Amino acid sequence: MTVHTDIQPARLSLIQASLLEWFAANARDLPWRRTRDPYAFLVSEVMLQQTQVDRVLPYYTRFLERFPTVHNLAAAPTAEVIRLWSGLGYNRRAVNLQRAAVVIVNELEGRFPDDPVALKKLPGIGSYTAGAISAFAYERDVAFLDTNMRRVISRVVFGSESVTESEALQAAEALVPLGHGWTWNQAQIEFGALHCTARRPACIVCPLRDACAAFPTMQATLGSKRSQVRKTIVPFENTTRYYRGRIVETLRGLPEHDQTGIALTELGSIVQEGFAQENIPWLRGIVEGLQRDGLAVIAEDPVPYDASAEAAGSGLRVRLP
Ligand code: ADE
Repeated sequence: MTVHTDIQPARLSLIQASLLEWFAANARDLPWRRTRDPYAFLVSEVMLQQTQVDRVLPYYTRFLERFPTVHNLAAAPTAEVIRLWSGLGYNRRAVNLQRAAVVIVNELEGRFPDDPVALKKLPGIGSYTAGAISAFAYERDVAFLDTNMRRVISRVVFGSESVTESEALQAAEALVPLGHGWTWNQAQIEFGALHCTARRPACIVCPLRDACAAFPTMQATLGSKRSQVRKTIVPFENTTRYYRGRIVETLRGLPEHDQTGIALTELGSIVQEGFAQENIPWLRGIVEGLQRDGLAVIAEDPVPYDASAEAAGSGLRVRLP
């Protein structure tokens, strides 16, 4: 099937005008919509990855109070950044955020690039975050997509959600109204979050009804989606991510200025019910993964219990970086 990215000018204008009008009437008053500080956008956009606005808000405020500038963040002990992140999840984001701050301070004299290509070279910054900082802090007319924006574009322009990333991005680029990159991208994000949601898009009262390629078939599509057999869901407690989270949470609870850390075996019995000696290699594997991601430091225990335990890895201690 050929997908046509060409959007007729009249339809293009209708999509743009309708969405901008909807945004003007429905935009939430969010703190990152009142600033143009690229550092604030780095913080907000990284926090907002995989995380709902309501959960991010208190963290965003606290983070910027504690680290008001990129210099403050770059100079902070990593353990403190990880502690401040407690409860937000995906802890690796905290480490990458600080790594990006360090590069900006040490290599770019504290100045953020305004161009998505240069922004993308920073640690942990992908196409979405690079585009978002460029559009929101520098008001550049750039296009970028996260899952929600992509869903909106795919439905409205193509009438189908099975389009490739590059088709969706081409359409997104064609849609940015000249001189309105900031509002347009904020509007798409807001529309995907509040109106054109994944499961319950409000098609009946949609301002884009007349321009939307999916509107005529949307009810049928949603009906068939709901009846599809759902994927087997792995209980969260069985996933590595769950244990990574529990381990980092335990490390956060250790005394702040004590670098001795916690013995691997003790850590195991805290994070897993029925933890036994034979589970040490498994735990060690997860902790090593955390160390690779900059979230933990493994050190030799100066007083290991015995040689065989040491060989298995229980002669190790773990702490925050
Ligand atoms: N999610 C990601 N970026 C956002 C933004 N700027 N506003 C609201 N939600 C978002």
